[in-house]
Amino acid sequence: MTRRSIGIIVNGVTGRMGYRQHLVRSLLAIRESGGVALADGTTIWPEPVLVGRNETKLRELAERHGLTDWTTDLTSALARDDVDIYFDAQVTQQREKAIRQAIEAGKHIYTEKPLAEDTAAALDLARAADAAGVRTGVVQDKLFLPGLRKLKRLIDGGFFGRILSVRGEFGYWVFEGDWQPAQRPSWNYRTEDGGGIVVDMFPHWHYVLEELFGRVTAVSCVTATHVPERVDEAGHPYAATADDAAYATFELDGGVIAQINSSWAVRVYRDELVEFQVDGTEGSAIAGLRNCRVQHRAVTPKPVWNPDLPATEDFRAQWAEVPDNEEFDNGFKVQWEAYLRHVVSGEPFRWDFLAGARGVQLAELGLRSAREGGRIEVPELRS
Ligand SMILES: NC(=O)c1ccc[n+]([C@@H]2O[C@H](COP(=O)([O-])OP(=O)(O)OC[C@H]3O[C@@H](n4cnc5c(N)ncnc54)[C@H](O)[C@@H]3O)[C@@H](O)[C@H]2O)c1
Repeated sequence: MTRRSIGIIVNGVTGRMGYRQHLVRSLLAIRESGGVALADGTTIWPEPVLVGRNETKLRELAERHGLTDWTTDLTSALARDDVDIYFDAQVTQQREKAIRQAIEAGKHIYTEKPLAEDTAAALDLARAADAAGVRTGVVQDKLFLPGLRKLKRLIDGGFFGRILSVRGEFGYWVFEGDWQPAQRPSWNYRTEDGGGIVVDMFPHWHYVLEELFGRVTAVSCVTATHVPERVDEAGHPYAATADDAAYATFELDGGVIAQINSSWAVRVYRDELVEFQVDGTEGSAIAGLRNCRVQHRAVTPKPVWNPDLPATEDFRAQWAEVPDNEEFDNGFKVQWEAYLRHVVSGEPFRWDFLAGARGVQLAELGLRSAREGGRIEVPELRS
């Protein structure tokens, strides 16, 4: 068995996503499970090069995991011959500049979403990466979650008949930061720092809708900043200038209508932090991050509207759980493995910069719809 080491810059590794999901739950977890095995017997072995701004944090983080390769100097890391991949989990605003540098250095690039702050920049990155012949990828983790994998299985098996509509409910209460610390970084609530729920979540909704149900052809969106003042990590009050809720309707190729509410100012009365209800002529499903329940047409009850009588049926009990039937690994790790196989052995990987640019485009048009107060068609993006 040959082991192929592959140097990976992890920039923004001190952040929430960079550390937990990408370093610990993906790259280090891949090493713990023996690397990524290829069909020819080769094993891909990720060698993380930790990059960040704060020397103390980097050193402490590296020592915690027995790693020694870290630096605050991105340029010198990009100049190394033993580095093949640049990965970016920095705050969104810092991404474009760093990715351009990585393209110039001839590295393959994988990145957190959103790829860039606007469609023109995202498309430009896709074209520049193509011209440089480097292999790109954008995180689309939700596709690899058990709940959505089971939903995809139902779609592929023809469970729904003709799919009519999708209702997505995403959100939870993000504390304002005064009497309890906020559970998300404060930059998310400032437009000037690249924050906002549309920019954050629409790239996710884009790939979920496109991969499962069809291309998004139009968007109508209303946004709100329900909590206009918050308190930051240092205890200072600040003006929350970004949208913290978005109420959107997406029209899809084939006639499916999707409505998704996204909010950081809602309390959870659901089983999971995100749930999608899909209704079709033959059956319906509710998929969350982990679980998926179904109701077939044959067991659909026939409620009659009568507000004078109390509800007699236990509607929630009328749904059946879809079994796992397989083992689901961490979604970020599964996508990392696919990307590494793509880089090393050229296996197909469709979640590239162009796919990422389409996610950025949907966020941009969602915000435009909210600003202008109307329905916006989504033109097809091409490289
Ligand atoms: N895929 C997902 O589900 C998901 C979830 C949350 C966030 N994200 C994305 O991941 C990225 C990071 O988000 P996060 O929640 O980990 O944020 P975070 O604030 O926890 O981490 C940000 C990282 O960027 C670094 N950084 C570099 N330059 C900076 C600057 N000028 N100001 C502040 N920080 C700077 C920080 O040191 C830190 O390592 C964002 O682009 C976000 O959209 C993705």
